[in-house]
Amino acid sequence: MPQEDIFADSVQPNGGVKEKGARSRLGLVVTGVVGGTLVALYAVAAPFVAPALRKFCLPFVPATTAQVDNVLTVLRRRSGTLVDIGSGDGRIVIAAAKQGFQASGLELNPWLVCYSRYRAWREGVHRSTSFHICDLWKVSFAQYSNVVIFGVPQMMDQLEHKLASELPSTAKVVACRFPFPTWVPENTAGEGIDTVWVYDARTFNSNLQRGPTGKTAPEERDTTEPHT
Ligand SMILES: C[S@@+](CC[C@H](N)C(=O)[O-])C[C@H]1O[C@@H](n2cnc3c(N)ncnc32)[C@H](O)[C@@H]1O
Repeated sequence: MPQEDIFADSVQPNGGVKEKGARSRLGLVVTGVVGGTLVALYAVAAPFVAPALRKFCLPFVPATTAQVDNVLTVLRRRSGTLVDIGSGDGRIVIAAAKQGFQASGLELNPWLVCYSRYRAWREGVHRSTSFHICDLWKVSFAQYSNVVIFGVPQMMDQLEHKLASELPSTAKVVACRFPFPTWVPENTAGEGIDTVWVYDARTFNSNLQRGPTGKTAPEERDTTEPHT
């Protein structure tokens, strides 16, 4: 038997097994990398897509610089607690904290909350800001004296009722880009898509107590009146 055949016979079967093993390992690595990449892409993208699947589709659209400036302008004489409902990348919360507010952001998207916390830390306002992953419809706003919302028209009616029933009478609410449907603003700033409307809780709370007919609700009537 020629020398090469002897060599081929003795090496080929073993080499084939090794090659197959290497190929299946490579296959596993490729499958792992592709699978891992898809899972990572899903994990990043899902929180951005999720708002579109809810009852009110409120996507992440950051406020313009003019919009943020208008919010700060209308709140310039205010202080205390502030909340941005659906805080996105935290720009309004951070700008408000720089103006002296104890500012909070409520946001559904955990990536945006992480990014907001990082930005607040980088800009030196992490002590006067806080960001929470939560659904705006499942929290109470009773503790806030200043509320900012950049919402969508479809949600403003329901939010109006929620805020009217929860906020203290000293609160102010600022709506960005889309106003509330029935409240009467005490002030506005900016124009076009950068317009903001300011509402005083004293006004909308008294409307709530009067009810749609304009009469005071029975439980709100003065019961100290002497009986005749
Ligand atoms: C129009 S963006 C406004 C972002 C930010 N306030 C600003 O002005 O730059 C609305 C934000 O609300 C968030 N969002 C949507 N649905 C929400 C919900 N149910 N609860 C809390 N945040 C929500 C979105 O993820 C998005 O970041």
